[in-house]
Amino acid sequence: MSIARQEFARRRRNLMAHMEENSIAILSAAPERTRNRDVEYPYRQDSDFWYLSGFSEPGAVMALIPGREHGEFVLFCRERDPEMETWNGYRAGPDGAVEQYGADDAFPINDIDDILPGLIEGRDRVYHDLGRDPDFDRQLMGWVNSIRARVRSGAHPPGEFLALTHFLHDQRLIKSAAELRTMRKAGEISAAAHVRAMEKCRPGMYEYQLEAEYLHEFMRRGARFPAYPAIVGGGANGCILHYIENSAKLRDGDLVLVDAGGEYQYYASDITRTWPVNGRFSPEQQAIYELVLAAQHAAIEQVRPGNHWNRPHEEALRVLVRGMKDLGLLEGDEDELIEQDEYRRYFMHRTGHWLGLDVHDVGDYKIHDEWRVLEPGMVMTVEPGLYIPPHDRQAPSKFRGIGVRIEDDVAVTRKGHEVYTEGAPKEPREIEKLIRAARQ
Ligand code: GLY
Ligand code: MN
Ligand code: MN
Repeated sequence: MSIARQEFARRRRNLMAHMEENSIAILSAAPERTRNRDVEYPYRQDSDFWYLSGFSEPGAVMALIPGREHGEFVLFCRERDPEMETWNGYRAGPDGAVEQYGADDAFPINDIDDILPGLIEGRDRVYHDLGRDPDFDRQLMGWVNSIRARVRSGAHPPGEFLALTHFLHDQRLIKSAAELRTMRKAGEISAAAHVRAMEKCRPGMYEYQLEAEYLHEFMRRGARFPAYPAIVGGGANGCILHYIENSAKLRDGDLVLVDAGGEYQYYASDITRTWPVNGRFSPEQQAIYELVLAAQHAAIEQVRPGNHWNRPHEEALRVLVRGMKDLGLLEGDEDELIEQDEYRRYFMHRTGHWLGLDVHDVGDYKIHDEWRVLEPGMVMTVEPGLYIPPHDRQAPSKFRGIGVRIEDDVAVTRKGHEVYTEGAPKEPREIEKLIRAARQ
């Protein structure tokens, strides 16, 4: 595992140090989800739960109880069961939870109704991510009510429920050295997958066949799952922001936009590249492409400590709006076009988001209504785009149906930034060269 046991312990200590006196934090593992009949989706642990435990099994609950004499980290998990394990795979069991995951105390999940109320009892406050898993919320209320029912016998139910996520997500926003190493690797793997796809791309292929090249390369390099469903949009499909059908044929003369990243040891990568299916940009495609690329370069330049979160977006917007005016896509005063959101006709999303265990990672973007200031250890995407819908009558016809996004994963460093995904070419000449070389 890329994150050491001591680091998980440090994360728990850090969180507990910020909890109010005489409190308990309770987190549940992600539920298993059915895909159809008795087939389940591949299981993925909840990111908060994994961040604090490294425990990847379903059917688990964690309690963090600062100051508890018999141990602060309590894990409930499925018991070992040779027959179930023969059918469904290995389980750590309570002993494994102690030995392998550093739990101070561990119990079978089937005994939770008898044990957890006793751990909650006497604590004034419960930290919990209310609303994430309504079934678990109901269970938790049941445990609290069972304590309330015993007040006349002297039981002491908690009086306050607090959001767990506030401090935890702030903690997750700043990545440790080991996390950054893992994310760099996720970026390298995903960049290699983009290179492979560019090399394999041919007119007449189906979008899903290109997707297959990504899945192959992710998995071959140890990223067992994509971090999110890949978007592979040929031609005008590139203008549909969350196009995941990936079912059309790639046509000679069109661009293809691919937004695909692998998840490596729980950490996401998120890359978009756009290239000509036949290996050569047309002048119109190149004009739009160069503009998005210039906006992306300008935005990445703004990623450094001390700048606020929105600086890269503002910079990208400036470049895009100026360029759209030059290309005849927008008319009017630059500031007004920005203030009145006119640009949103062709650029309808933001320039990025935090990246980490989740592709749209946790962490506030504003603090007390002010954009957050960038600090070393934050990782974000920078992903401007332009999408000219095929039926947009306002746009010059030669640009209609062109969709371009360029997205990289960028870490804030002490001196500025590091781009984790630069292994995927994005300069037009480099892309054309790579595709040419692959076809010889
Ligand atoms: N892949 C999702 C995004 O770019 O935000
Ligand atoms: Mn993204
Ligand atoms: Mn993306």
